[in-house]
Order: sequence, then C-alpha cells, then structure tokens
Amino acid sequence: MDRELVVVSIGGSILIPGKDDAEFITKLAEMLRRVSSRVNVAVVCGGGKIARYYTETGRELGGSEYDLDMLGIGATRLNAGLLALALGDLSSKDIPTTIDAAADAFSHGKILVMGGTEPGHTTDAVATMLARELGGRRVVNATSVDAVYSDDPRKNPDAVRYDKLTIDELEKLVYSDHGAGKSSVFDPLGVQIAKSEKIDIMMVDGRNLAELEKAIAGEPFDGTFVNSQ
Ligand code: UTP
Repeated sequence: MDRELVVVSIGGSILIPGKDDAEFITKLAEMLRRVSSRVNVAVVCGGGKIARYYTETGRELGGSEYDLDMLGIGATRLNAGLLALALGDLSSKDIPTTIDAAADAFSHGKILVMGGTEPGHTTDAVATMLARELGGRRVVNATSVDAVYSDDPRKNPDAVRYDKLTIDELEKLVYSDHGAGKSSVFDPLGVQIAKSEKIDIMMVDGRNLAELEKAIAGEPFDGTFVNSQ
C-alpha cells in the first residue's frame, strides 16, 4: 500500500483533558480509525498534567534533569497506553520505546501509538524523528492553541494569528520563545529536524476533532500550516 504516512503529535493535556477523559479518548480513537482508512497514522502522545506532577515532585526530591526527563517519559507512555487501549485491535498495547522499535512495529499496518524515547527533548521532537525514520512528509501537532501567534493572544490583544508560516519563520518564533523561557509552540529540536528533512508541520487545536481530522487527512483546516519545502 502506498498511502501517505502522517505523524500526529498530541499534547498530553489534549489527550487527557482532566474531565470525561474516557469519553474524549473514545471519540479521538473513532476519528483516528476513520481517517486511517485514508492515510497511515502514527500518534506520539505527550505527558500533560501527569508528566508535570511527576517532574515537579521529582524536582522537590532532588532529581537530576535526566531523572525528571525519565519521569516525564514514563507519563507520556502511560498516556499512550490509554489511547492504545481505546484503539483496540487497530493498535498494539506494547508501546515502542525507541524510534527503531516504532519503525519495526509500524510495518504491521496498525495505528502506531507511542510516547517519549529518551531524555533531552519532548514528544514533538519524537514525532519529527518518527516522520524522518518512516518517510513521513507531515507532522500534525494537536495542541491547546488554535494556531501559531506572534505573541501570547491571551496577554497581547495585538498578537497576529498566522494561517501560514515558512519553517524559517517558525524557527525564529520558537527561538525567541525559548529565550524568554516560555513553553515553545513546537520543540526547537523538532523544528530543526523538520527543516532539514523538509517535513511540513500543521498546528491545529487538538480538542477540535473535526479540524484535527481534516489536518490529518491533508484537507484545508483551521490552524497554521508550516511549509518546510
Ligand atoms: P511532553 O512531550 O509532554 O513535553 O513530555 P511538554 O513540553 O510538557 O509538552 P508540550 O509540547 O508542552 O505539550 C513531557 C516531558 O517528558 C520528557 C521531558 O521532560 C518533557 O518535558 N521527555 C518526553 C523526554 O525527556 N524525552 C522524550 O522523548 C519525551
């Protein structure tokens, strides 16, 4: 089969909203099942609140950055386990822990679900690494904002909403973001990989399953299209 492969990076706070979680994950799984008849899908799950709880508590206990990253990775894999459960036979309950293991698992034609791999980056970067490994040309970032903005739209009413960006423009934004110590719209390492591998990034509100489905299917969607070509 030569259907396109799309890697979805889903934020932990999207996957586990903290209220009626099973209901949301069920709906997400139904959408993924539907869209997977059009494109091959791999999903990398973030850690969300659970990761934050563990890393903050680990920090109070004197953990090193490596220790805290390992705790965060554990949370991403727990979250991935819930999505895999909701996907049933379409996924595997064994969550791959490396890109190589994921590439092997992917050949079985299911929806691949995983979390983090190793310390030092986030699941956005894992998603771009997986796309690179599997020859995917697009990463869909299902996130808590509906698009990329020039500044935080909650704090700055003049923030500009971008429908389209080039990868160089996104790069500038994430580095200025990062310098200020803010959580970045996309992991800077992921931006570097997307840039060198010419992988497009589609930023979409992950709670809006209709728009997320369009983005995964490659249809016009409401969000930000980051062109890396
Ligand atoms: P996330 O990918 O959820 O990070 O991983 P995040 O920064 O909270 O995500 P978003 O994009 O803002 O939603 C949670 C934590 O797990 C560790 C990192 O510490 C990360 O902050 N992690 C995750 C790794 O060290 N390596 C990985 O491959 C993935």
